[in-house]
Amino acid sequence: MSDQSSHYPELARKISGARGPLGVLLPGMGAVATTFVAGVQLMKKGLAKPYGSITQMQRIRLGKRTEPRFPLIKQFVPLAGLKDLVFGGWDIFRDNSYETALKAGVLPPETLKPVKPELSRIKPMSAVFQKEFVKKLSGPNVKGAKSKMHLAEQLIQDIENFKKKNGLKRTVMVWCGSTEVYSQPTKVHETLASLEAGLKSSSKDIPPSMIYAYAALQTGTPYANGAPNLSVDVPAMQELARKNSVPIAGKDFKTGQTLMKTILAPGLAARMLGLHGWFSTNILGNRDGEVLDDPGSFKSKEVSKASVLDSILDGKLYPELYKNIYHKIRIEYYPPRGDAKEGWDNIDIFGWCGLPMQIKVNFLCRDSILAAPVVLDLVLFLDLAKRAGLSGIQEWLSFYFKSPMARPDLKPEHDLFIQHLKLQNTLRILMGEEVLDHSGLDYYELDA
Ligand SMILES: NC(=O)c1ccc[n+]([C@@H]2O[C@H](COP(=O)([O-])OP(=O)(O)OC[C@H]3O[C@@H](n4cnc5c(N)ncnc54)[C@H](O)[C@@H]3O)[C@@H](O)[C@H]2O)c1
Repeated sequence: MSDQSSHYPELARKISGARGPLGVLLPGMGAVATTFVAGVQLMKKGLAKPYGSITQMQRIRLGKRTEPRFPLIKQFVPLAGLKDLVFGGWDIFRDNSYETALKAGVLPPETLKPVKPELSRIKPMSAVFQKEFVKKLSGPNVKGAKSKMHLAEQLIQDIENFKKKNGLKRTVMVWCGSTEVYSQPTKVHETLASLEAGLKSSSKDIPPSMIYAYAALQTGTPYANGAPNLSVDVPAMQELARKNSVPIAGKDFKTGQTLMKTILAPGLAARMLGLHGWFSTNILGNRDGEVLDDPGSFKSKEVSKASVLDSILDGKLYPELYKNIYHKIRIEYYPPRGDAKEGWDNIDIFGWCGLPMQIKVNFLCRDSILAAPVVLDLVLFLDLAKRAGLSGIQEWLSFYFKSPMARPDLKPEHDLFIQHLKLQNTLRILMGEEVLDHSGLDYYELDA
C-alpha cells in the first residue's frame, strides 16, 4: 500500500472527552485578553462569528482525494465548546473586563453592549508585578510577599480558588500580559532545583511572567506564552512541564506584520528569489505600543520578530540568495492610532541575472482582532493536548507564534505553511488518521 509510510497508528492517542467547564486564566487582561473574552461571549449569544479561528471554522481533509472527507476540526477532535469556557485572570489595574474593553477601543461600544453584564463580572485578581520588568507601567492591583516563592504560592492559591468557585477540573493559562524587558537564560533557569532556589531567594533573574508560569505548571495547567518573555522557554520550566505532564507553548503571538512576513517569505524561498533586505516599520498607539516604547521591552520584541526570516530564508543553505540579508524592524508608539496598527514593509528582492525588484506591503491591521482567535485556538488545543497525554513543548502549535519554542537541538520552523501542515498532521496522527504529504504520486504511479 502506498500510504504505509505515512500512517502512524502507534502514535494515535486515547483522548478523554472534554467534559465539564474549562477555566481560562489570563495573566494580563488588557486589549488582547478582553477582545478575546468579549468575542467569545458574543459568539455564545450568536452575535458574532469566530473569523480567524482554526478550531471553530477550519475543515481538515482526511483520506484519499478520490473519497475525501472534510470534517470541521472541532468535530474531528474532541475540543471544549465555547459555552464551556469560564474566564478569570490577573492585572495590575482593577478595571473589570467591560471597562478595559471600552478603554482599549478595539470593539466599538455598541458591539460590547450586549455582553456588558458578562464582561463586568470579570474582575482581575491582584497581580504579581515588578516595575523593573515593565518600566512604562505601574498600577494599584499588585500582590506583596516576602519572596518570589511566596508570590508563586499566592498564585497557586488563586488558581485553586478559581477552580473551586467555578466547579472546574481543567484550566489553561495564556499569558496576555505586557512584554517584559529583554533577558537571556542564566544559571537560575537551568534546572527545576535552581529555579526553586531562585524563587526562594527572590532572584533578580526571575520575572513575573515566570512566576505565573511556575504556578500554572505546579497546578497542572497547560501554559501558552503570548509575549516574547522567556517565561517557559528555559530548561527548568521544561523540566517541570515534563515532570507534571503539562503541555506548554510559546512564544509571542504571530499576528500583523510578522504573520505577513511568514506568508510572503516562504513564497520567495520556494521560487529561489534572492533577498537583499527587508525593512519593516509600524505605528501603534495602544498600551502595548506604550510598553514597547521602552528600549528593554522593545529589544524583547525585536529579537522575537527578527528570528522569523532565519529559517525560511536560510543563508547557510543558500548563501548566494540569503547570506547578507539586511533585516531591520522598527515599532513606533503613536497614540492617535490606538489598536489600529499600520505596518509598512519594503522588501528588496532579486531575480534572474541578479536584477533587483521591490515589494511594498502596507497592512492596516487591528492587532487584537488578529490575536483574539489565536488565544482561543491555543486554549482549546492545549486543553486537547493535556487530555491526549502530551506534555512539554508543543511544537505543532508553532503556527501561532513569532518565535516558536523547539527542542534545543532542533531549528524552530517559521514557514506558516509548514507550520499549518504540522498542526493538521498532528491532529490526524492523534486521531489515527493517515498523514497527508500532498505528493499525489500514488494517484498516478503507484495505483496502476
Ligand atoms: N495584539 C497582538 O497582535 C499581539 C501580538 C503578539 C504579542 N502580543 C503581546 O500580547 C501582550 C498583550 O497585548 P495587549 O495589546 O493586550 O497589551 P495591553 O497593554 O493592552 O495588555 C497587557 C496587560 O497586561 C497587564 N500586565 C502587565 N504586567 C502584568 C503582570 N505582571 N501581571 C498581570 N498583568 C500584567 C497590563 O496592565 C495590561 O493591562 C503583549 O505582551 C503583546 O506584546 C500582542
